[in-house]
Amino acid sequence: MAELVPICRVDDLTDGGMHKVEVLGCEYLVIQRDEATFVVDAACTNDWADLSTGSLDGSIVTCPKCGGQFDITSGDVVREPPTFPLDTYNVEVKEGGVFSDVTGY
Ligand code: FES
Repeated sequence: MAELVPICRVDDLTDGGMHKVEVLGCEYLVIQRDEATFVVDAACTNDWADLSTGSLDGSIVTCPKCGGQFDITSGDVVREPPTFPLDTYNVEVKEGGVFSDVTGY
């Protein structure tokens, strides 16, 4: 596993909500759901819309621009037009902090 870097505090997260962070020059979504925490790229792979302004239903995030959907647990496309999955990252929660192996630019 690549080096884990701090990306936010656990207190920043709400269950079932999306929290956008900028780390190493890139934007990511941090999502807490059913006691698990996920980190994915914040930009849609179709036309780079900000997924944090879309909606989250369970593990499915819907893009606000043209309605594409991704499963945040895998990054897989659930509904086109996107054809490429979101990048997903390893996560560790410890001592009130959220750490991930995001790579930045
Ligand atoms: S920009 Fe996200 S589906 Fe088109």
